[in-house]
Amino acid sequence: MSLSDAAGPDAPDPYELLSWYAEMGVTEALDETPRNHFADPAPIGERGNEQPRFRSLPGRPVPPARPIAAAATPPDDATLSARTLAREARTLDELKSALARFEGCALKATAKNLVFADGNAQGRVMMVGEAPGADEDRIGLPFVGRSGQLLDRMLAAIGLSRKDDVYIANTVPWRPPGNRTPTIQETAICLPFIQRQIELADPDILVCIGKPSSQALLGFKSITASRGKWVEYDTGTRRIRAIATLHPAYLLRRALDKRLAWRDLRALRAALDGKN
Ligand code: URA
Repeated sequence: MSLSDAAGPDAPDPYELLSWYAEMGVTEALDETPRNHFADPAPIGERGNEQPRFRSLPGRPVPPARPIAAAATPPDDATLSARTLAREARTLDELKSALARFEGCALKATAKNLVFADGNAQGRVMMVGEAPGADEDRIGLPFVGRSGQLLDRMLAAIGLSRKDDVYIANTVPWRPPGNRTPTIQETAICLPFIQRQIELADPDILVCIGKPSSQALLGFKSITASRGKWVEYDTGTRRIRAIATLHPAYLLRRALDKRLAWRDLRALRAALDGKN
């Protein structure tokens, strides 16, 4: 007897259900509360306002009935609305609330949390990564997983801490399903927000971590060719120094390239000390 036979004739086929989850980027089977997926559904009248998780079609699960406004918002409208909302935000708190209200990016529908920032917004250095991963999405803070721990050790090596010295954010503040790289369109839609976040945080130095962030903010085509080179970044109110470095997730796979990241970190330390 198969699992679906055991669960009744209307139950979704477990294989199709898992495939659908994988397609939607669900990579974890954890939930806040235990759920018995094989229990009989409560009669309709006893369900209160709860939305059915699935409509039963024989053997074929369908996504939960939840309006996904973002999917219906044309990208141009989304970019325009992002620009307006970002421009109107006068503080970082207002910007965070504006992002929480923003419905123009489809990633919001699959992410658990908005991952806005961590660290000290008054710090002299602002670091911008790519997008949250699974750990960041669960906790709601950037760079808290394995690559974040490596980033903290790299910062400590040049006498910096995220608590006191560095403000950290991402180019895209919602986790792309399955940790894929954000698309050009998703990045373009979220760009006004991260640009405004940099303007409002007003750091002395911007560090772009990895290729997507250095592409989006500094216009670099290749991270290997451009990392470690100082350029100017116009925040909208002033010009600051900016540099790109390798992403810690890449360094976890390519330990030999840590020596390149170390050079970039030393350049950052020297710039903070007014020595280059
Ligand atoms: N990688 C990123 O680029 N950002 C995070 O927040 C975590 C991993």
